[in-house]
Amino acid sequence: MSTNKKATLTYGDGKTMDFPVLGGSIGPDVIDIRTLYGKTGMFTYDPGFLSTASCSSKITYIDGDEGVLLYRGYPIEQLAQKCDFLEVCYLLLNGELPNIEQNKDFVDTITRHTMVHDQMNRFFTGFRRDAHPMAVLVGTVGAMSAFYHDSLDINNPEHRRVSAMRLIAKLPTMVAMAYKYNMGQPFVYPRNDLSYSANFMRMMFAVPAEDYKVNEVLVRALDRIFILHADHEQNASTSTVRLSGSSGANPFACIAAGIACLWGPAHGGANEAALNMLEQIGDVSKVSEFIAKVKDKNSGVKLMGFGHRVYKNYDPRAKLMRETCHEVLNELGLHNDRLFKLAIALEKIALEDEYFVSRKLYPNVDFYSGIVQRALGIPTSMFTCIFSLARTVGWIAQWQEMIADPEYKIGRPRQLYDGAPRRDLVPMNKR
Ligand code: CMC
Repeated sequence: MSTNKKATLTYGDGKTMDFPVLGGSIGPDVIDIRTLYGKTGMFTYDPGFLSTASCSSKITYIDGDEGVLLYRGYPIEQLAQKCDFLEVCYLLLNGELPNIEQNKDFVDTITRHTMVHDQMNRFFTGFRRDAHPMAVLVGTVGAMSAFYHDSLDINNPEHRRVSAMRLIAKLPTMVAMAYKYNMGQPFVYPRNDLSYSANFMRMMFAVPAEDYKVNEVLVRALDRIFILHADHEQNASTSTVRLSGSSGANPFACIAAGIACLWGPAHGGANEAALNMLEQIGDVSKVSEFIAKVKDKNSGVKLMGFGHRVYKNYDPRAKLMRETCHEVLNELGLHNDRLFKLAIALEKIALEDEYFVSRKLYPNVDFYSGIVQRALGIPTSMFTCIFSLARTVGWIAQWQEMIADPEYKIGRPRQLYDGAPRRDLVPMNKR
């Protein structure tokens, strides 16, 4: 971690102070400023954490300029093409890909934890039917800590492992329950003879009157969506999970906090927003008019599914999702899909337009994932729930890493206060 390099700060009347420079295995070096306040009485100012590494991590690496994404060192392209989601879960949690025996045990454990406590049903039915499924998910995942309190000792590695298994195994069941309740249909219990993704699709789409016929192309597409969304280093929701967990909060509460953060349109809500945008544009002939609106700073209109805080190149997940989009639409005979054609036209124009080129704005994963999910029969209101399901493994792996880190401390950012200085209170009748 430590390098022979140092960074020198000059401040005040020419005072200087050296700070160690730490190096990771790949990626930019970081200046270790932990002693800054103690030595200088000053903080750093970095709203939005544009230049701040909040932790060290061995899980995910992104090179935004090159469009590279690695989980535990493996390129996302190889994982998406050669592994299934549960192998990727094992990798994220344990640091290595499973061998045949390890994979069998892991799949077995996850499969046997897919049912939720039956009393959970009442939590779901306590919500209004028209509640947003994300509102239901935030509430019910938070409520898991009231059901599974035999695994809440965060200082016990076995408790942490059991909680992680429960979350990964039960999230599909709970997401499907949120959907079924919203639709006014009975809950469908998990089936252990199906794969993780096939089981989820069945819990979403089977009804007592008709079972769901598994289509391998569609199951594979959903599995790929899960893989591509499984982790993304220290994004807003992951940082939320880490910050919540840093106080010692239990993992179910932390994941509920992550889900709440993911709900926002600038983060997990973007694929829903991207699809709504395509619907609003309506037709290829309206693309130029829409692009002009996006470029007009006063319009407040953004090209949803474009741009990323870290990727200043084509998001590697977007390429894989584009490929999956073709596969799914072909399988379903929807290759002439109106919104897909519109998306391709929009992407082409934006990639050639000076506004987007100069700002390095490229399609992100959400640009195509909405179209794929819509083709799978998943309604837009469920998109962020699907993202939450997939990201749960990343959140829990990051949470585990933090708790096991001997350097971990409660997260406590500081501030630049620019409010009123000390003043005396004036009685109400004199204000
Ligand atoms: N459409 C039009 N202009 C944009 C867009 C966009 N989608 N994204 C950024 N810009 C412009 C922005 O107005 C700014 O222009 P200027 O320099 O003239 O003021 C410039 O590009 C830099 O943008 P920024 O806001 O500093 O970039 P950021 O890193 O803070 O924001 C972002 C990243 C993802 C919030 C933003 O690109 C965005 O809102 N995109 C649309 C929403 C979206 O697709 N989000 C999904 C992200 S991927 C899923 C995930 O990982 O959660």
